[in-house]
Amino acid sequence: MSDLLAKLFPNHLRTLQARADAALARGGFDHLVIAAGVPRHEFLDDRPAPFVANPHFKHWLPVTKAPGSWIVYSPGNKPKLIYLQPRDYWHVVPEAPAGYWVEHFEIAIIEEAHAAGAHFPKTLEHCAIVGEDNAALGDARPNNPESVLNYLHWHRSYKTDYELAMLRVASKLGARAHRAAEAAFRAGRSEYDINTAYLNAVHETENELPYGNIIALNQHGAILHYTDLNRAPPAHADSFLIDAGANFHGYAADITRTYAAAHAGAFQELIDAVDAAQRGFVHKVRSGQNYADLHVHAHRVLAGILREQDFIRMSPESAVESGVSSAFFPHGLGHMLGLQVHDVAGFQKDETGGSIARPPGHPYLRFTRTLEPRMVTTIEPGIYFIDLLLGELKNKPQARDVNWTKVDAFRRYGGIRIEDDVVCTEGAPENLSRDAFTAAA
Ligand code: GLY
Ligand code: MN
Ligand code: MN
Repeated sequence: MSDLLAKLFPNHLRTLQARADAALARGGFDHLVIAAGVPRHEFLDDRPAPFVANPHFKHWLPVTKAPGSWIVYSPGNKPKLIYLQPRDYWHVVPEAPAGYWVEHFEIAIIEEAHAAGAHFPKTLEHCAIVGEDNAALGDARPNNPESVLNYLHWHRSYKTDYELAMLRVASKLGARAHRAAEAAFRAGRSEYDINTAYLNAVHETENELPYGNIIALNQHGAILHYTDLNRAPPAHADSFLIDAGANFHGYAADITRTYAAAHAGAFQELIDAVDAAQRGFVHKVRSGQNYADLHVHAHRVLAGILREQDFIRMSPESAVESGVSSAFFPHGLGHMLGLQVHDVAGFQKDETGGSIARPPGHPYLRFTRTLEPRMVTTIEPGIYFIDLLLGELKNKPQARDVNWTKVDAFRRYGGIRIEDDVVCTEGAPENLSRDAFTAAA
């Protein structure tokens, strides 16, 4: 793997340099200065919160655990890494830089955080400094110029070959762990124990994962971001929804699967229908496809499933129009993915900024742009039985076209979500998640 990454890295870095050159020119800056960041601390305490590196920093090199480090790039020059290895016996000191990327950087090792300033360009007013406020070092305060960030964020949506290789590995790690979790579910384990099985297989700590695992048995699947992890197994585990990812050098996988117990045949039928629909949506991840349109299309298809399986008795069009489909599918079809699980620029109009509005009635959609090659998106349709939303639906005129006997019988299963990570290409989409499950089988 590292041979492949070594081969792909120089082009990746060249691409980033070219983007930085253009972004700086737009903003009228001469240097790009990127803070890795520093950990936040708990209120009134000296306990650090888990460190999460600035995505701009880890875009340039596969280093995610170097708080207090910086990258300085001036067009025409080799990028410089200012690398903090503190004299510290309380915490792990980041390892000496090693690997395929090192030769591409000029590296300055510092032992104190404030020593970074001596390596910054002298004219701070000519620097675009990217980072969180708490990374400020004296007069060097992150200014995060919008013109520069908009340009970088826009172009970050187009993954380099190196980044696609990273994402393929993250997906493989995730798929392997998903299989372990499914086995734990089939063995009747608690949510807590399933999560442990997942962590053992993915070989990452919870803090290293790109987001908190959602491990939901039975009706917990109806809580979209359920993260409680019951310690005791339920008397009957009828259904299992797992939304859990993996991280490879700062790149995220974001995968959801839903399983039915062997005895839950009707629920399996609904899973199968959502699964087939989801594959259809993945198939439409093509250059030129607008994502918001795909989201609305997904509503119609899911409403069609609800009608076919006799949950609702109205046309898919009227179910979407009246908001009935949103009671069962109340989140977005997906979002861009990469260095962040919800990657930036999902609404951006062009490289100068701007915003493309969501379609009315779809407040949680995170992606309204038109797909192009090298974008990576999730496709994650769902059908849920959420008491709060069903209660609201019951008070609408459309309630008379809902088969409440069937809907009520499905509340115990919580819900279904099936989520894959998909690369838009010049041709057929590449399904990172399904490919990874196939390889893990
Ligand atoms: N796991 C968060 C999401 O699917 O967006
Ligand atoms: Mn997602
Ligand atoms: Mn997810």
